Amino acid sequence: MAYGLLNNKRGIIFGALDESSIAWKVAERCFEEGAKFTLTNAPIAMRMGAINRLAEKCQTEVIGADATSTDDLEKLIDQSTEVLNGKLDFILHSIGMSPNVRKSRPYTELSYEFFLKTLDISAISFHKVLQIAYKKDAITEWGSVVGLTYIAAQRTFPSYSDMAEAKATLESIARSFGYHYGKHKKVRVNTISQSPTWTTAGSGVKGFDTFFKYADVLSPLGNASAESCANYCVFLFSDLSRMITMQNLYHDGGFSSVGVSEEIMKMLGMQENE
Ligand code: NAI
Repeated sequence: MAYGLLNNKRGIIFGALDESSIAWKVAERCFEEGAKFTLTNAPIAMRMGAINRLAEKCQTEVIGADATSTDDLEKLIDQSTEVLNGKLDFILHSIGMSPNVRKSRPYTELSYEFFLKTLDISAISFHKVLQIAYKKDAITEWGSVVGLTYIAAQRTFPSYSDMAEAKATLESIARSFGYHYGKHKKVRVNTISQSPTWTTAGSGVKGFDTFFKYADVLSPLGNASAESCANYCVFLFSDLSRMITMQNLYHDGGFSSVGVSEEIMKMLGMQENE
C-alpha cells in the first residue's frame, strides 16, 4: 500500500451535500491519504443524490442520519464500526443550519422555535455524536474529532444571526468534551474556524458575497479554500497532531489577527495625504 498519512485509519464524515461542501473535499483528501470511512448526511439531503457519487469515488457507503436524532446517531456509529471493521480514529462534524437565517428573520425578531433548531442541528448534535461515541467506546485512543466553526462565535457579523450562538456553543462543547474524552481515552476534540467558503450553507448567509470579499482583502494570505481546510483536517486526524486538543484553530489566512489591511484603508479612501 502506498504511504498515506491516514493509512489504517477509520472514520465518519458528516455533511457532504455536494461538490462545494467542505466535507466533500475532506472526504476526497482522506481517501487519498489512505483512510477508510463512512459518509453520512440527513435523509433529506441524501435525496439530492450527489453524495452517492462521492461514496463511489471513495469506495464507501452512505449511512443516513439526522444529526439531531440520538437513535439515528447510535445506528450510524454501530453500522460504521461494523462496515469499517473496527473502532473509529476520526470524525468530522461539518453540519450547520439555521431556520432563522433561511427564513431571513432579523436578529431582533428571531423565532425561538427556530433558534432551538439552530442550536440542536448546528451545536448540540456535536455533543450527541461525542456522547454516543463515548458511551459505546467507539473511538480509539488518540482518535481525533473535528467540528467546523466560524469566527462569528467571537466577533459580530450581523447577518450571521443565531448561527453565532450555535458556533459559540459548538466551540465550547469541543473544550468541555475534549477535557473528558482526553482524560478518559486520550481522544482529541477540536474545532477549525474556517474562512468564508462558497458552499450551500455559506452562501445562504445574507451578504455572503461581500463578507467573503472583505475577509479576502483583510487576510494577508487571502481566504483559506475548502481544499486547504481539507488538508488541515487530514493533519488533525493524523498522528502528527497528537497533542492538540480542546482548541479552536483558526484556518483563515490570518484574518482573525488583523485589525485593518492597507487594501481596506485604500478602499475607504483613508490613505495618508501624500
Ligand atoms: P454545506 O451546506 O455543504 O454543508 C452543511 C451540511 O449540514 C449539509 O450537508 C447539510 O445536509 C448538513 N445538515 C443540515 N442539517 C442536518 C441534520 N439535521 N443532520 C445531518 N446533517 C445536516 O456547507 P459547508 O459550508 O460545507 O458547511 C459545513 C460546515 O462548515 C458547517 O458547520 C458550516 O457552518 C461550517 N463553516 C462554513 C463556512 C462557509 O463559509 N461555508 C465558514 C466557516 C464554517
